[in-house]
Amino acid sequence: MRTPLDSPFSPGSDTVPQVWAGRTAQLSDWRDVLRPRRLAGLPERGRTVLGEAGLGKSSLVRRIAADAADRGDWVTPQLRIPSGADPLKKVAQALLEVARQARLPAARERSIGQLLSRVETVAAAGVSLTLRDQPGPEPYTTLTELLIEIGRAAMKRGDVIALIHIDEMQNIGSEEALSQLLIALGDALTFEEAVEVPGGAVVQRALPIAVYLTGLPEFADMAGARTGATFARRFQTTTLGPIDDDDLTSALQPFIVEGWEIPDGTGGTTRILMEPEARAAIVDLSRGEPFLFQLAGQQAWYAGTGDLINRAQVIAGWEMARSEAAAHVERILARLPRREREFLEEMAALEPKERTLTAIAKSMGLDRGSAAGPTSQRLDSIRGILRRGKPYTFRHRAVEAYLTTQWPEVS
Ligand SMILES: Nc1ncnc2c1ncn2[C@@H]1O[C@H](COP(=O)(O)OP(=O)(O)O)[C@@H](O)[C@H]1O
Ligand SMILES: [Mg+2]
Repeated sequence: MRTPLDSPFSPGSDTVPQVWAGRTAQLSDWRDVLRPRRLAGLPERGRTVLGEAGLGKSSLVRRIAADAADRGDWVTPQLRIPSGADPLKKVAQALLEVARQARLPAARERSIGQLLSRVETVAAAGVSLTLRDQPGPEPYTTLTELLIEIGRAAMKRGDVIALIHIDEMQNIGSEEALSQLLIALGDALTFEEAVEVPGGAVVQRALPIAVYLTGLPEFADMAGARTGATFARRFQTTTLGPIDDDDLTSALQPFIVEGWEIPDGTGGTTRILMEPEARAAIVDLSRGEPFLFQLAGQQAWYAGTGDLINRAQVIAGWEMARSEAAAHVERILARLPRREREFLEEMAALEPKERTLTAIAKSMGLDRGSAAGPTSQRLDSIRGILRRGKPYTFRHRAVEAYLTTQWPEVS
């Protein structure tokens, strides 16, 4: 018997979901590129993962951080920037925690003790330290120094890396704080330490530090406007799109073949199975949105108590989830500037093969395609909602379904 208590689905939480789908390119980038290269002292940029709400940015980096922690790496605690908060304080606090994992407070050098107490001051006062015109170093240089010490400690330990993850970057309201933060992280990433190699030669190597920044696509504008080319040289940006249906299908495979194991209430375990048709319905309804995938799965789980999840339960569960699914897409649309929303609406109103820039611009009441060019460019390269091919297509499949079909109604 299944009960809501045993559901492995987790809509709306950004902990690492138990039923995990896809994102293999990003996971492999961490395991096969970023981590090994930084461990080897090779330069590798920080990673910025952007995307619309619900695409799984926080979960992805949580999963990477969990993987790192399993290997014994030093990882920042959950660090999301609340709107309007001073990020330097938050980051200083998180770095002090990483410094504890690195056992820096036990270091004998006086300079490290002094550095830690300067970081304590940043953790308490944040960016206001700069504005107050105090003597002494700017907060960002203090943070860079600490990152470098953490990196040195990791290098000495061997085979560990310090992973810094800062979430909800778009919430940083102060330009001053943002540029200080990006400089501190970037300077630590590009810092090179001289080390002696066997044979006596001295070489320069990067420190074993990795940085992940996550947030809404707007963050690309904020960072670009302020630090432009420097930011791009130091951070590599990925905009997440929907998850492929194949990946969602594979994620549910354990339910099909052996069943998902849950406690049976009497000290043993039992397994919950899923009909292939039920799985196909979940995949179809979620339109590549990880949030909706979790929601559809959870509601199907709740829609019955037996050991088999069938298609009827998926559909009945979706009834309960439908308004939430609609609200999810409406929130994404409502957050867009009016021009961008209009563009998507006019694009959706055209027949798929007629969705060219000229035709969409004309529907918007503009006389030339080029007048809508910047809008379409943003929707493509910054937000990842559409693809400017010939013709234009939607990349965000839930937005497409919402604007062009009866979805989330089930026919
Ligand atoms: N790769 C994934 N596979 C399955 N579910 C996922 C995946 N990534 C995220 N989710 C689920 O999607 C929802 C939104 O994820 P979250 O990380 O909070 O998105 P974001 O930070 O982009 O807003 C959560 O319920 C999470 O469990
Ligand atoms: Mg998030």
